[in-house]
Amino acid sequence: MDLFEKLLQDRGPIGQHAKDSHGYFTFPKLEGDIGAHMIFRGKQCLVWSLNNYLGLANHPEVRKTDAEAAAQYGMGSPMGARMMSGNTDWHEKLEAELSDFEKKEDTILLNYGYQGMVSAIDCLVDRRDVIVYDSESHACIIDGVRLHMGKRFVYAHNDIENLEKQLERATRLTDETGGAILLITEGVFGMSGDMGRVADIVALKKKYQFRLFLDDAHGFGTMGKTGAGAHEEQGVMDGVDIYFGTFAKSMASIGGFISSTAQVIEYLRYNMRSQIFAKSMPMPLVMGALKRLELLRTQPELKNNLWKIVNALQNGLKEAGFDIGKTQSPVTPVFLNGTIGEATKLIYDMRENYNIFCSMVVYPVVPKGIILLRLIPTAVHTVEDVNYTIDAFRKAYVKLKAGEYASDKIASF
Ligand SMILES: Cc1ncc(COP(=O)(O)O)c(C=O)c1O
Repeated sequence: MDLFEKLLQDRGPIGQHAKDSHGYFTFPKLEGDIGAHMIFRGKQCLVWSLNNYLGLANHPEVRKTDAEAAAQYGMGSPMGARMMSGNTDWHEKLEAELSDFEKKEDTILLNYGYQGMVSAIDCLVDRRDVIVYDSESHACIIDGVRLHMGKRFVYAHNDIENLEKQLERATRLTDETGGAILLITEGVFGMSGDMGRVADIVALKKKYQFRLFLDDAHGFGTMGKTGAGAHEEQGVMDGVDIYFGTFAKSMASIGGFISSTAQVIEYLRYNMRSQIFAKSMPMPLVMGALKRLELLRTQPELKNNLWKIVNALQNGLKEAGFDIGKTQSPVTPVFLNGTIGEATKLIYDMRENYNIFCSMVVYPVVPKGIILLRLIPTAVHTVEDVNYTIDAFRKAYVKLKAGEYASDKIASF
């Protein structure tokens, strides 16, 4: 069979809807400065879809630093991979400051969070080792695990009893192979907003020998007293052996980092394929990340503002009778029952008649019949934005229950 023909036969779980959804439900274009109010298809709308948690994307000091760094260095500098020709004092300064913030010995920068996670997992283990990981892990963890040549055992999401079973199996196996165990979980799960049970996992180190790798993409900057992450929130910063954070969420940029012991970071520097065989992070991104980190550390009001909005939104939704699951973080899911057709009509109604832009998650990411509306509050939203949204949600919920959105077909726009 011809490969291209085959691709047309099965376009994938989301791709099968592309004809109806492209440009509206998928690949929408939000225009204007990043913030709580942007333009969608020519109209102002209230946006709840961006991981700009601390509102740094459009912070004047951030915009100034980004622009000045780009003017001084251009986007090309430095050229080459870090190991060959792309290293600078600024890259090392950012790594040192991240290590200080995360209270770890050393840090390695990553060009992209996703690819960095995949590559770090690939780099850390060999065929004798066993990976144990949470069933609701992000795609970058799943894809890193796919590269692993040895065994992998998945445990039911946040289920410590089941995790222990997998650790027992893994221990038996590594006793035979002479390998080691790498346990991977998220600090904050990006769809449901619940935290990984990091403290409970760290406590298991008394019984089992393993190293813990924490993907804290959503926790970095939002959780813990200083914003260091979910491990700080749970009082176990030392218990996390390898910590991953991204610059693509709280830091409102691109790239990421891994912090650990000096020895592990040196190992990653010399063995991690995504960094050895790819160009170094451009200077404006490095200088911009330094500015963002400085603001994150010195302006606690950014995180306080975020949490003021998170609490207002989550308490308001609960009081209005909505099911927001088990979230413990800014990620705010709203679970409803309905078909994909109903979900698209509801979102269409929200966007066209209430000027509210939020994202929906449907099957296969959540079970069939469930609609997950995912709201991301940020420091630049206001309590008025929250109240307006809860009111609109109330109205949409009444319509959903009355069957006004009933349809199996995707809304046409
Ligand atoms: C848990 C988790 N890990 C990693 C990533 C990848 O981050 P990046 O956008 O920096 O590639 C994401 C982004 O969605 C994430 O949610």
